[in-house]
Amino acid sequence: MTKSVLITGAKGQLGLSLQAIATQFPEFQLTCVDIDELDLCNVPSVDNFFKEQTFDFIINCAAYTAVDKAESEADLADQINHLAVKQVSRIAKQQKSALIHISTDYVFNGQHFQPYIESDPVDPQSVYGVTKLEGERAFQEESPEGIIIRTSWLYSEFGHNFVKSMLRLGKNRDRLQVIYDQIGTPTYAGDLAQAIFTIIQSGTFEQLKNNSQLYHYSNEGVCSWYDFAQYIFEISQTCCHVQPIESKDYPTAAQRPFYSLMNKAKIKSHFNLEIPYWKDSLAQCIQNIQEETL
Ligand SMILES: NC(=O)c1ccc[n+]([C@@H]2O[C@H](COP(=O)([O-])OP(=O)(O)OC[C@H]3O[C@@H](n4cnc5c(N)ncnc54)[C@H](OP(=O)(O)O)[C@@H]3O)[C@@H](O)[C@H]2O)c1
Repeated sequence: MTKSVLITGAKGQLGLSLQAIATQFPEFQLTCVDIDELDLCNVPSVDNFFKEQTFDFIINCAAYTAVDKAESEADLADQINHLAVKQVSRIAKQQKSALIHISTDYVFNGQHFQPYIESDPVDPQSVYGVTKLEGERAFQEESPEGIIIRTSWLYSEFGHNFVKSMLRLGKNRDRLQVIYDQIGTPTYAGDLAQAIFTIIQSGTFEQLKNNSQLYHYSNEGVCSWYDFAQYIFEISQTCCHVQPIESKDYPTAAQRPFYSLMNKAKIKSHFNLEIPYWKDSLAQCIQNIQEETL
């Protein structure tokens, strides 16, 4: 039986990655909207949108993701990452839609040095992290059916991300400085999209009601941004020397966690997922990008 799925923020990295693999999941009928069709900051228009239609699943990919800019646009970041999540969670509960909401490793302070589990204490260090955490709490207060997936270092063939920036910069420069003292795991949005469809296909939300609805998802493995850049240049055969630098030598408006490795045991065991190693997924993504630009 066909199930209806709404994707918000559909023109972002994750939204486009979901659409790119949707043909593998023909049982889902997708409705894809971004800010032009559904501005999640416009409370009356969101209410009107959902008065006219209901969905079996809502995948909320919409977000304010400009981490540094958020430091000076806190109200806007809060509206999208927090208040809109509250409204969508309330509607999802009323309409009995299952909501898949995406959050971030930036809810942690990065001083843990052991892979974070879902119940570890949160302590965001940036406006972006605070607003995303408020979004998680709003979801939990409204308590719709569904889950929150925290992810990290998202990249894809689409939009703006670290991989595409490195490929662009590496073409024109013979050396680049990249920080080596922030450790985490990249996440290929195509893998996260696959995981999300697999999870909603499993239809197990009912059985999860007594479990915390929080899950961690990234690719497997660990690296620094320096290692990430090195491997991007290695597999794209780009001749660019990467010089490791410390975060203090690359000041940014927002503070980022030094350590944001996440433990993924819970999502793997609940949904029977196999998660690819970050280098394998990165190679696939770069191959896709290079084929597109041929
Ligand atoms: N990117 C990362 O490294 C990263 C890491 C951890 C977690 N996450 C989380 O993963 C999720 C997906 O991230 P992503 O990288 O795919 O984000 P993205 O590429 O920035 O996409 C977000 C989409 O939401 C749209 N949007 C912004 N304001 C909106 C509004 N008021 N109403 C409706 N749509 C709106 C954006 O449109 P505009 O482009 O026009 O603003 C964009 O198309 C987000 O929840 C993010 O917080 C991302």
